Amino acid sequence: MAATGEGTPEPSTLLDSLPAHAARLSRMPIRRLVGDDPARAGDFALRAGPVCASFARQRYDAQALDDLFRLASSADLPGRLRALFEGETVNPTEGRPALHTALRARDAAPGLAGEAMALAHQARARMGGVLRDIEAAGITDVVSVGIGGSDLGPRLVVDALARHGDGRPRVHFLSNVDPAAAMAVTAGLDPSRTAVLLVSKSFGTQETLLNGRILRDWLGDDSRLYAVTATGARAREAFAIDPSRVLPMWDWVGGRYSMWSAVGLPIAIALGMERFEALLAGAAEMDGHVLSAPPRDNLAVWHALTAVWNRNALGLHTHAVLPYAERLRLLPAYLQQLVMESLGKSVRLDGRPVGADTVPVWWGGTGTDVQHSFFQALHQGTGIASMDFIGVVDDGIDGHEDNARALLANLLAQSEALANGQASDDPHRAYAGNRPGTVLLLHRLDARSLGALVALYEHSVYLQGVLWGINPFDQFGVELGKQVANRLLPALAGDATADDPVTRDLIARIRRAQ
Ligand code: F6P
Repeated sequence: MAATGEGTPEPSTLLDSLPAHAARLSRMPIRRLVGDDPARAGDFALRAGPVCASFARQRYDAQALDDLFRLASSADLPGRLRALFEGETVNPTEGRPALHTALRARDAAPGLAGEAMALAHQARARMGGVLRDIEAAGITDVVSVGIGGSDLGPRLVVDALARHGDGRPRVHFLSNVDPAAAMAVTAGLDPSRTAVLLVSKSFGTQETLLNGRILRDWLGDDSRLYAVTATGARAREAFAIDPSRVLPMWDWVGGRYSMWSAVGLPIAIALGMERFEALLAGAAEMDGHVLSAPPRDNLAVWHALTAVWNRNALGLHTHAVLPYAERLRLLPAYLQQLVMESLGKSVRLDGRPVGADTVPVWWGGTGTDVQHSFFQALHQGTGIASMDFIGVVDDGIDGHEDNARALLANLLAQSEALANGQASDDPHRAYAGNRPGTVLLLHRLDARSLGALVALYEHSVYLQGVLWGINPFDQFGVELGKQVANRLLPALAGDATADDPVTRDLIARIRRAQ
């Protein structure tokens, strides 16, 4: 066995050992793993702040878990977490730390993290000022223009937690460069009572710049145009936005980890500053747990090890996110970016191939609706997906208990049925079961618990990156398509010819049809 000093096996060697466990357990379905061990349900459940989790319906046993936790210690997960929180250069391909945890930290941390915390504090004071301006101006609606990490997090939180009719401005989101999106978002809004936020870390993103121009022209008054960016100079050049209306971002926060910064301004506008602070407090509570809990008691470590197990031991290609909460309907889309933009890599930090499969396809939808669409394939299809079921214990809605109980019953039933299956002499009516699922339960769906849930996923992603030896904070994979799209603009306008013969042919057909 390869060693990293003092006989500690290398993480890659331990990763290689996982399929042998899977082979050993191949005749041991989840139903038996659970049935044979009366303590398993309790032993494989843990809680962190407002999030409680059960990993009992995963296809590992205590022996496989021992190796997974040896993997955690050989990869030094606790040390790598400290490195993240303390501002080490955990994003070496871009030469940066990733200090999203400092944005929500409560205690003064030493060094870079402390400086980041102070800057985040100042930015929040400015966010409070924007909220007061918007209120004083009698603004009824705010359109937030941004895409990817400058859109998905705020969109998720606002959709989940904004209360209509609470007197706060309504917040709308515009991301797609398709002009139909801009038309749809402005329809029915009064420009004289609307403010527009342009949210872009780089202020170089095609979609946001183009949509920003449409919205600025529609608004017709630059005094209600705000920007959140790490490149204030570009916001001034491109849109002449007064520096007093430009809020900061920093290169040490990744776009998809940025909702805790001024990128979260749409959240603060829709929910108020107090609930935005509660979101940060929930995330900070999860940070405290993840940083201090030993691996065996650490929710993010369990979640990350389970992801690696399902991918590298069981060879599962897809992972379904199944919120049983209408208000979390945007969670799958949010997690698709967080997880797949972070972990969709095939080379290690040192440039060598990873040598193991990395991120599976993350997808999903809201229960109970999706039970009537793709659940057939989850139950009886040939491909097996791992799953996260996410439920809310107390929905905070008075009355309608029958609906609330039915929702939870469906979550519990599906995770049980998919794991246990059911035999039948009729092959069409047989359920093989053995579909692995984690259940995550929030006591309530509020700012604190949503902050904690998102932070849990952020940490799980980071730890999966450590286990695979890849950088979860860069995203060079998205650059090539952007460059090609920019090169093709003149060809589509008829001012140039595309180099690629297929593209050239398609452009000719498009132009003939126009
Ligand atoms: O999709 C690539 C990406 O760079 C994401 O990582 C980022 O969240 C998004 O584009 C938007 O970038 P920006 O905030 O710079 O406009």
